[in-house]
Amino acid sequence: MEKTRAAITAVNGYVPDYILSNLELEKLVDTTDEWITSRTGIKERRILKGQGLGSSDMAAAAVQGLLKKKNIAPEEIELVICATTTPDMQFPATANIVSDKVGMKNAFGFDINAACSGFIYALVTGSKYIESGQYKKVIVIGVDKMSSIIDYTDRTTCVIFGDGAGAVLLEPDQSGSGIVDSILRSDGSGRVHLHQKAGGSVLPASHDTVDAKQHFVYQEGQAVFKFAVTNMADVSAEIMERNQLKAEDIAWLVPHQANKRIIDATARRMGLGNEKVMLNIEKYGNTTNGTIPLCLWEWENQLHKGDNIILAAFGGGFTWGSVYIRWAYN
Ligand code: UT7
Repeated sequence: MEKTRAAITAVNGYVPDYILSNLELEKLVDTTDEWITSRTGIKERRILKGQGLGSSDMAAAAVQGLLKKKNIAPEEIELVICATTTPDMQFPATANIVSDKVGMKNAFGFDINAACSGFIYALVTGSKYIESGQYKKVIVIGVDKMSSIIDYTDRTTCVIFGDGAGAVLLEPDQSGSGIVDSILRSDGSGRVHLHQKAGGSVLPASHDTVDAKQHFVYQEGQAVFKFAVTNMADVSAEIMERNQLKAEDIAWLVPHQANKRIIDATARRMGLGNEKVMLNIEKYGNTTNGTIPLCLWEWENQLHKGDNIILAAFGGGFTWGSVYIRWAYN
């Protein structure tokens, strides 16, 4: 019998209805559809509108759909891990709020904050609970309401980000499928290039921090771009090498959707043609923790049992990594 691995056995996603197009952004800031499309690959993104709605509402919708798809009662879920950079509140964890909204009464839960790499960090963390044999049903969520921390007068960031959620169910697999390998990295010295200045313990919220717009995403785009291109490509090549995978062995690359140029560079480095790369950045922009599960959701019906799939991400921290999955179902 093969060793017990954690397999993704269901995927679901949720994106809000409101579409923020490049044309609408042209009216808000000094930008053009041409600039945004050629520099990032983004055409539109989804925005969660409505008073009192937060990340947990999108996550709850994704999880409810997931449970329905699998015909599983919420009480059967044992653990919920939520990767988010835009939690509903500083505390408690958004995972707890989602569990309450969905009725996952028997689950314990916590959040993971690893910016754009959060979903793969959470997936690997969840997989260890399954591999240990102690838990059999773990939900991993990637969600962000990026519109809550974006300055819609700053053209360098407001064109990039969007809102959305994805969720997967992890269950034990002994047939050779599941999460086979992972490489996760971080380098905190990169924080200077991408962060949110205020609202934490160093600079708590005040009138001054609000006036100085310090609660929005601060990003030095070019610096982040350089690190992202190198590190996402390197780590993806490394995971292929140490698992003796050649380009022809790989069915899909599932990259974090930050910039089409970063994704193209990663695919080139892995020797993969565009037809093997999941790409939906044009519709959703960068949903931070949502990008990878939203791709898996959209491509789910094209995946086959045994497909070799590589997930790859890079984000604030800096954090980055790669996960090798042998897909578990048709
Ligand atoms: O997901 C988390 C990790 N984040 C990333 O991976 C993001 C990585 N960075 C990027 O994707 C890119 O750096 C950006 C998309 C953010 C920016 O693209 P870029 O090609 O690096 O542009 P740039 O920052 O070098 O700016 C080039 C020019 C500048 O004008 P000047 O100084 O050359 O006159 C900018 O002011 O483009 C200008 N610019 C814009 N022009 C029109 C910046 N944003 C815009 C805009 N519309 N929205």
